[in-house]
Amino acid sequence: MKVAAVVVAAGKGERLGTPKQFLLLGGIPLLLWSVRSMVEHPSIGEVVVVLPAGMVESPPGWLVGAGVGCCAGGSTRRESAGRGVDAVSADSDLVLIHDAARPFVTAAVIERVLAAAADEGAALPVLPVVDTIKRLESGAVLETVDRSRLARAQTPQGFRARLIREVHAWAERTSRAASDDAALCEVQGYRVVAVEGDPHNVKITTAEDLALAEWLIDAGRVGPPAGRNGPIGSV
Ligand code: CTP
Ligand code: MG
Repeated sequence: MKVAAVVVAAGKGERLGTPKQFLLLGGIPLLLWSVRSMVEHPSIGEVVVVLPAGMVESPPGWLVGAGVGCCAGGSTRRESAGRGVDAVSADSDLVLIHDAARPFVTAAVIERVLAAAADEGAALPVLPVVDTIKRLESGAVLETVDRSRLARAQTPQGFRARLIREVHAWAERTSRAASDDAALCEVQGYRVVAVEGDPHNVKITTAEDLALAEWLIDAGRVGPPAGRNGPIGSV
């Protein structure tokens, strides 16, 4: 099976106030954490990083040195992911799509997603919802939602290449918005299998998330990315 990974990193980081994928986390650009985990994974043969359009001509040296391909993103995450999917080798069997904003992806999560995507066509890692969830209206509670059937979606999400190309082409044609790639499969009626996510696979959205991520590193809760001192070079 030929597996390609797309890392989407073309966002503006508006909630954090800067394109967060280029901030240093534990001394390493945030984007490079997940890029290294993908490059080092033995099942992944190709990694494409989707960059802000203005950076593609001259990507940062630490990215060039990581041995990845680059392409330009779009104005939404959906568009950026679609461009990444278009950029992977035509003979790919499976495509993983991962947010640069999740630096602590593990090999175990990648393996669970790949195994389920190979078997079923589409898969994503999830975590249970632990808070009590309320539906609101006009600032007051309408009802308490049954959380037993809810889950929090993570990335990487994995797909058979033909399926993810098809649903992104459809989204492009119809200007369909989606906050993740699995959603495009869901609305088209494809089964998307849920596998166990990882509580450390956090998404960096705000400055508080970044502080928490630094703490996870300092506390030894997450390891340095694969290859930190290895063959793909230092920053
Ligand atoms: N992303 C992208 N292209 C876009 C928007 C988002 O590639 N046009 C990427 C981001 O770089 C990030 C991932 O999608 O790795 C998840 O998006 P999010 O966390 O929302 O990042 P931003 O869009 O950059 O942040 P914000 O929404 O606060 O502006
Ligand atoms: Mg965003």
